[in-house]
Amino acid sequence: MALPEDFLDELRSKNDITSVISMYANLKKRGRNYVCKCPFHNDSTPSFTVYPDTESFYCFGCAAGGDVISFIMRAEQLVYIDAVKYLAQRAGMQMPENKYDDSFSKLRLRILEANREAARFYHSQFYTESGYRGLDYLRSRQLSDQTINKFGLGFAPDSWTALTDHLLAKKFTRYELLQANLCVESKKGSLIDRFRNRVMFPIIDLKGNVIAFGGRIMTDEKPKYLNTSDTPVFKKGDGLFAFNIAKNSKSDKFILCEGYMDVIALHQAGFDFAVAALGTALTSEQARMLKKYKETVVLCYDSDNAGQLATQRAIGILRKENVNVKVLQIPEGKDPDEYIKRNGSDGAVKFKLLLDSIESDIDYKIEQLETRFDITDASGKFQFLDQAAKMLAEIKNDIERNIYASKLCEKYKVSAQDFEMQLAKYVRSNVYKSSREEFKRVKKQITESVPVSKGVQGGGLSTRAVRAEEALISYLMHNPDMVQSVTDRVPSEKISHEFNRRVYNALTERILSGKSANFVDFSGEFTKDENAYIASVFARFSNELNVPQAVDEYISVILEENEKKSAAQLAELPPEDIQKYFDEMKARKKG
Ligand code: UTP
Ligand code: MN
Repeated sequence: MALPEDFLDELRSKNDITSVISMYANLKKRGRNYVCKCPFHNDSTPSFTVYPDTESFYCFGCAAGGDVISFIMRAEQLVYIDAVKYLAQRAGMQMPENKYDDSFSKLRLRILEANREAARFYHSQFYTESGYRGLDYLRSRQLSDQTINKFGLGFAPDSWTALTDHLLAKKFTRYELLQANLCVESKKGSLIDRFRNRVMFPIIDLKGNVIAFGGRIMTDEKPKYLNTSDTPVFKKGDGLFAFNIAKNSKSDKFILCEGYMDVIALHQAGFDFAVAALGTALTSEQARMLKKYKETVVLCYDSDNAGQLATQRAIGILRKENVNVKVLQIPEGKDPDEYIKRNGSDGAVKFKLLLDSIESDIDYKIEQLETRFDITDASGKFQFLDQAAKMLAEIKNDIERNIYASKLCEKYKVSAQDFEMQLAKYVRSNVYKSSREEFKRVKKQITESVPVSKGVQGGGLSTRAVRAEEALISYLMHNPDMVQSVTDRVPSEKISHEFNRRVYNALTERILSGKSANFVDFSGEFTKDENAYIASVFARFSNELNVPQAVDEYISVILEENEKKSAAQLAELPPEDIQKYFDEMKARKKG
């Protein structure tokens, strides 16, 4: 029985892999991940890694790997469906009924298709006589055409049935359009457009699906924004606007603001790590989404009263999820969009200054630390200072670290010289530790040969190509929204390794049909060994991902090696076949 995608998604998110595994093993945090001795083999060193980002685990010792379901299968010696039942019970979830599943997941796919078509339609309106003023409006709010295209903005015409007619002609059914909330029923019962005479902001999830829309009226009428209601593919409070872009930003933080326009203005000014909750107060779900990718969230809500209240609420929710929270107060009662615009060509620079000057939470952390010691007692004070030095040693920037150190010495009346010596000791040990880890990682990357697992040997294939293929597969798992651009450049026949090609096909098909791209979802399509191998690919390449330059490199290696291979094959053909080959190539170029 195939379980529906969203049921499995929910099952995994309610059975957080880290907390499930910690019932069986003693996990220690290492960077973004956790390690422990492997519960499945007699392990002398911690070879077992849990990757919260991808909700997966992998053991470098015994090659066990997979998701929370495969973990339970092994740990409890259960077959797949029983492991699912076990986890469902743990999370208080009902097992789904079979018939409903299939038609429901089909409906979800149809809705995503309808949304995509609608986004295209809205965007195309900019270039019509009646839709041009939508484009004009956005330009008047100082969005560049590049920005407008990047966010796929559009315009819903001032018509009752423009989109309805368009989508019905594309063979979407009345039921699908109502379920998608793209259309509503008029009083007479006919189908009409939900969004009329508004500029449209599509909301895109991490798989690149258009899951909902926000639409802004261009006058002072109310409501200012109209949003898609809950549908089978969208739940208010689940998504974040521009999250698909911001999660790939080089920045180590997110900026969380209130509105669509704030996010877009920030991105246009170069702050590509801004996101917004969609017309709701921040939810724990959204806080967890943020935390999954970056440690720090800078709250940048409007500076009016409502914004300040929302900030207080959001701090509570983010702290609960262990997010490092900072607050950026926009001066003069403005929102980020207005602030940037008001400052004209200095807008970006001024915002950057605000961002750099926000109060760090080190002060807060030191206060918290102090409460754990009795500093009226000499040994208590010594222990406190020792821990504080350890904490300050984590600050990478020397100047910043020294500022905190001297502040601390002054406040607690200790000799700056002694404290700095202690601090320097921890700094040295941090530097040593991180360079040693980096060295070990690089060495492993270089020396580790392509692991050979059952059915994964490649006779005469270039190791370089195989590794690039694995890296590309892993990249796609992390960045499913890049699927189109990757498959455009690398059709699957260019993948040299037969097994990699199977994985690549399965993966791209899944993403393109709107399903989850986690390797863990391949349980049905691959054997246990193959799945463990996929997990290892994932584990080995999870460090160098998320860099667009890297993916270009993988692709060029794959294509290059593929050329070489074709050339080598060509050399072995009889002469008449070679002539035929060139003729074909010529014909293809012309065609
Ligand atoms: P704001 O009223 O601050 O709007 O609402 P804004 O983002 O600054 O937009 P502009 O600059 O006036 O165009 C903040 C966010 O709250 C949600 C939207 O997501 C909006 O971006 N909202 C607001 C609604 O969902 N509905 C509304 O009627 C108003
Ligand atoms: Mn605004």
